[in-house]
Amino acid sequence: MKKVIYPGTFDPVTFGHIDIIKRSVELFDRVIVTVAKNPGKTSLFSVEERVDMLKESLKEYDRVEVDSFNGLVVEHAREVGAVGIIRGLRAVSDFEYEFQMALMNRKLDGELTTIFLMPHEKFTYLNSTIVRNLAQFQGDVSDFVPEIVVKKLAERFVKK
Ligand code: COA
Repeated sequence: MKKVIYPGTFDPVTFGHIDIIKRSVELFDRVIVTVAKNPGKTSLFSVEERVDMLKESLKEYDRVEVDSFNGLVVEHAREVGAVGIIRGLRAVSDFEYEFQMALMNRKLDGELTTIFLMPHEKFTYLNSTIVRNLAQFQGDVSDFVPEIVVKKLAERFVKK
Protein backbone atom coordinates (compact mmCIF):
# COMPACT_ATOMS: atom_id res chain seq x y z
CA MET A 1 0.00 0.00 0.00
CA LYS A 2 1.53 3.34 -1.06
CA LYS A 3 0.99 5.99 1.57
CA VAL A 4 2.07 9.64 1.21
CA ILE A 5 2.11 12.59 3.52
CA TYR A 6 0.96 16.11 2.54
CA PRO A 7 2.34 18.54 5.12
CA GLY A 8 1.50 22.22 5.42
CA THR A 9 0.39 25.01 7.72
CA PHE A 10 -3.19 25.03 6.36
CA ASP A 11 -4.13 28.30 8.10
CA PRO A 12 -6.74 27.80 6.72
CA VAL A 13 -7.16 25.05 4.10
CA THR A 14 -8.10 26.43 0.66
CA PHE A 15 -9.51 24.91 -2.55
CA GLY A 16 -5.91 25.01 -3.85
CA HIS A 17 -4.84 22.54 -1.14
CA ILE A 18 -7.91 20.39 -1.80
CA ASP A 19 -7.04 20.30 -5.51
CA ILE A 20 -3.61 18.84 -4.59
CA ILE A 21 -5.23 16.32 -2.22
CA LYS A 22 -7.64 15.14 -4.96
CA ARG A 23 -4.73 14.61 -7.35
CA SER A 24 -2.78 12.72 -4.67
CA VAL A 25 -5.70 10.38 -3.95
CA GLU A 26 -5.77 9.43 -7.64
CA LEU A 27 -2.11 8.42 -7.49
CA PHE A 28 -1.69 6.85 -4.04
CA ASP A 29 -3.61 4.46 -1.81
CA ARG A 30 -3.60 6.63 1.28
CA VAL A 31 -2.94 10.34 1.81
CA ILE A 32 -2.15 11.74 5.25
CA VAL A 33 -2.76 15.46 5.36
CA THR A 34 -0.69 16.70 8.25
CA VAL A 35 -0.83 20.10 9.94
CA ALA A 36 2.52 21.53 11.00
CA LYS A 37 2.75 23.25 14.37
CA ASN A 38 5.39 25.52 12.66
CA PRO A 39 6.74 27.84 15.40
CA GLY A 40 8.11 30.14 12.67
CA LYS A 41 4.60 31.25 11.65
CA THR A 42 1.99 33.04 13.75
CA SER A 43 -1.26 31.36 12.90
CA LEU A 44 -4.83 32.63 13.00
CA PHE A 45 -6.28 29.21 13.87
CA SER A 46 -4.98 26.70 16.43
CA VAL A 47 -3.66 23.35 15.21
CA GLU A 48 -6.87 21.68 16.50
CA GLU A 49 -9.06 24.13 14.57
CA ARG A 50 -7.01 23.62 11.39
CA VAL A 51 -7.26 19.84 11.76
CA ASP A 52 -11.03 20.05 12.33
CA MET A 53 -11.57 22.27 9.27
CA LEU A 54 -9.55 19.85 7.13
CA LYS A 55 -11.48 16.83 8.47
CA GLU A 56 -14.81 18.47 7.72
CA SER A 57 -13.67 19.58 4.24
CA LEU A 58 -12.32 16.12 3.36
CA LYS A 59 -14.99 13.88 4.89
CA GLU A 60 -16.04 12.48 1.49
CA TYR A 61 -12.55 11.07 0.89
CA ASP A 62 -12.27 7.75 2.70
CA ARG A 63 -8.60 7.25 1.81
CA VAL A 64 -7.54 10.58 3.33
CA GLU A 65 -6.55 11.00 6.98
CA VAL A 66 -5.81 14.24 8.81
CA ASP A 67 -3.36 14.62 11.68
CA SER A 68 -0.75 17.06 13.01
CA PHE A 69 2.94 16.96 13.84
CA ASN A 70 5.56 18.86 15.74
CA GLY A 71 9.17 18.61 14.62
CA LEU A 72 10.65 17.33 11.40
CA VAL A 73 8.38 16.32 8.55
CA VAL A 74 10.66 13.37 7.68
CA GLU A 75 10.26 11.96 11.20
CA HIS A 76 6.49 12.14 10.98
CA ALA A 77 6.58 10.59 7.50
CA ARG A 78 8.59 7.68 8.90
CA GLU A 79 6.21 7.30 11.88
CA VAL A 80 3.19 6.93 9.61
CA GLY A 81 5.00 4.73 7.06
CA ALA A 82 4.84 7.18 4.14
CA VAL A 83 6.93 6.60 1.02
CA GLY A 84 6.80 10.22 -0.10
CA ILE A 85 6.04 13.83 0.70
CA ILE A 86 3.54 15.69 -1.50
CA ARG A 87 4.06 19.40 -2.16
CA GLY A 88 2.17 21.74 -4.44
CA LEU A 89 3.96 23.97 -6.94
CA ARG A 90 1.84 26.93 -8.00
CA ALA A 91 4.33 29.17 -9.76
CA VAL A 92 8.04 29.55 -10.42
CA SER A 93 8.24 31.66 -7.26
CA ASP A 94 7.48 28.55 -5.18
CA PHE A 95 10.36 26.65 -6.75
CA GLU A 96 13.46 27.81 -4.88
CA TYR A 97 12.00 27.30 -1.42
CA GLU A 98 10.50 23.95 -2.37
CA PHE A 99 13.75 22.83 -4.03
CA GLN A 100 15.74 23.61 -0.86
CA MET A 101 13.21 21.88 1.35
CA ALA A 102 13.07 18.77 -0.86
CA LEU A 103 16.86 18.46 -0.96
CA MET A 104 17.14 18.95 2.80
CA ASN A 105 14.47 16.32 3.40
CA ARG A 106 16.28 13.93 1.06
CA LYS A 107 19.51 14.54 2.97
CA LEU A 108 17.69 13.79 6.23
CA ASP A 109 16.07 10.65 4.82
CA GLY A 110 17.25 9.30 1.48
CA GLU A 111 14.34 6.84 1.31
CA LEU A 112 11.69 9.57 1.17
CA THR A 113 10.86 11.15 -2.19
CA THR A 114 9.24 14.56 -2.54
CA ILE A 115 6.54 14.56 -5.21
CA PHE A 116 5.48 17.91 -6.69
CA LEU A 117 1.97 18.33 -8.03
CA MET A 118 0.57 21.39 -9.80
CA PRO A 119 -2.88 22.58 -8.75
CA HIS A 120 -5.28 23.91 -11.38
CA GLU A 121 -3.99 27.24 -12.75
CA LYS A 122 -7.01 29.05 -11.30
CA PHE A 123 -5.34 28.57 -7.88
CA THR A 124 -1.97 30.01 -8.92
CA TYR A 125 -2.50 33.28 -7.06
CA LEU A 126 -4.21 31.76 -4.03
CA ASN A 127 -2.68 31.34 -0.59
CA SER A 128 -3.91 31.32 2.99
CA THR A 129 -2.61 34.83 3.73
CA ILE A 130 -4.74 36.33 0.93
CA VAL A 131 -7.79 34.46 2.25
CA ARG A 132 -7.18 35.66 5.81
CA ASN A 133 -6.72 39.27 4.61
CA LEU A 134 -9.86 39.17 2.52
CA ALA A 135 -11.91 37.74 5.41
CA GLN A 136 -10.54 40.30 7.84
CA PHE A 137 -12.06 43.08 5.71
CA GLN A 138 -15.34 41.16 5.21
CA GLY A 139 -14.50 40.20 1.61
CA ASP A 140 -16.27 37.20 0.09
CA VAL A 141 -14.00 34.14 0.41
CA SER A 142 -16.54 31.53 -0.67
CA ASP A 143 -14.85 30.97 -4.07
CA PHE A 144 -11.58 30.06 -2.37
CA VAL A 145 -12.32 27.98 0.73
CA PRO A 146 -14.78 25.26 1.84
CA GLU A 147 -18.01 26.20 3.64
CA ILE A 148 -16.71 25.31 7.10
CA VAL A 149 -13.77 27.70 6.59
CA VAL A 150 -16.08 30.50 5.41
CA LYS A 151 -18.03 30.01 8.65
CA LYS A 152 -14.96 29.88 10.91
CA LEU A 153 -13.48 33.00 9.29
CA ALA A 154 -16.76 34.89 9.71
CA GLU A 155 -16.82 33.94 13.41
CA ARG A 156 -13.21 35.03 13.84
CA PHE A 157 -13.65 38.38 12.09
CA VAL A 158 -17.00 39.53 13.43
CA LYS A 159 -17.93 42.93 12.00
CA LYS A 160 -17.77 45.57 14.71
N1 COA B 1 -3.09 26.17 -3.01
C1 COA B 1 -3.18 27.31 -2.36
N2 COA B 1 -2.25 27.74 -1.49
C2 COA B 1 -1.19 26.94 -1.26
C3 COA B 1 -1.04 25.71 -1.91
C4 COA B 1 -2.06 25.34 -2.83
N3 COA B 1 -2.02 24.20 -3.51
N4 COA B 1 0.10 25.15 -1.50
C5 COA B 1 0.66 26.00 -0.62
N5 COA B 1 -0.12 27.08 -0.48
C6 COA B 1 0.15 28.27 0.34
C7 COA B 1 -0.27 28.08 1.75
O1 COA B 1 -1.60 28.44 1.96
C8 COA B 1 0.69 28.98 2.48
O2 COA B 1 0.21 30.29 2.44
P1 COA B 1 0.62 31.40 3.51
O3 COA B 1 2.11 31.41 3.63
O4 COA B 1 0.04 32.61 2.90
O5 COA B 1 -0.05 31.04 4.80
C9 COA B 1 1.97 28.95 1.64
O6 COA B 1 1.56 28.51 0.38
C10 COA B 1 3.02 28.02 2.20
O7 COA B 1 2.43 26.79 2.31
P2 COA B 1 2.62 25.53 3.20
O8 COA B 1 2.43 24.42 2.27
O9 COA B 1 1.73 25.58 4.36
O10 COA B 1 4.09 25.57 3.56
P3 COA B 1 4.83 26.11 4.80
O11 COA B 1 6.05 26.67 4.25
O12 COA B 1 4.00 26.96 5.67
O13 COA B 1 5.06 24.76 5.62
C11 COA B 1 6.14 22.62 6.02
C12 COA B 1 5.79 23.74 5.08
C13 COA B 1 5.18 22.47 7.15
C14 COA B 1 6.07 21.42 5.16
C15 COA B 1 7.56 22.90 6.50
O14 COA B 1 7.61 24.11 7.20
C16 COA B 1 8.08 21.78 7.34
O15 COA B 1 8.42 20.75 6.83
N6 COA B 1 8.16 22.00 8.66
C17 COA B 1 8.68 21.02 9.58
C18 COA B 1 10.16 21.24 9.89
C19 COA B 1 11.03 20.48 8.96
O16 COA B 1 10.88 19.30 8.74
N7 COA B 1 12.03 21.15 8.43
C20 COA B 1 12.99 20.53 7.53
C21 COA B 1 12.63 20.72 6.10
S1 COA B 1 13.62 22.00 5.43
